[in-house]
Amino acid sequence: MNKPILVACDHAALEMKKEVIKHLEDQGYTCVDFGTHTSASCNYPDYAEKVCRAINDGEGDMGILICGTGIGMSMAANKCRGIRAALCSDTFSARFTRLHNNANVLCMGARTIGAGLACDIADVFVKTGFEGGRHQTRIDMVMALEEKRLNNN
Ligand code: RB5
Repeated sequence: MNKPILVACDHAALEMKKEVIKHLEDQGYTCVDFGTHTSASCNYPDYAEKVCRAINDGEGDMGILICGTGIGMSMAANKCRGIRAALCSDTFSARFTRLHNNANVLCMGARTIGAGLACDIADVFVKTGFEGGRHQTRIDMVMALEEKRLNNN
């Protein structure tokens, strides 16, 4: 059985998140909504952390994080071990970040793209597989950066 897609947003993206979840569920995907559930102002790193922790706990293999620009969510998610978050505002990037980067978290901006495009991007992201091969070497290099101490000493 396919694992659920783990989804979260901040207050700026509540409506878009609902549309993306409905769109995916209409196609048979299961989504788990990690919040936020209201339009009250909140802090996007809390929601990025919830989804990234759940991926690392094995609750799902893929996450979708939406905030105003998608930038804060992507910054926060990429600080989490094991996460390769890609901010996408077009379907080409969504396709190639799965094919080449094996991205496991899709970030989008509710203030930068419309809900229709967000649904298309989410579609492509969840349906595209990783190509492997030479790209795995590069991903191994990216993930090795987690173990290095980049404090410039
Ligand atoms: C919230 O106002 C906004 O800063 C947030 O949604 C996001 O765009 C941050 O990157």
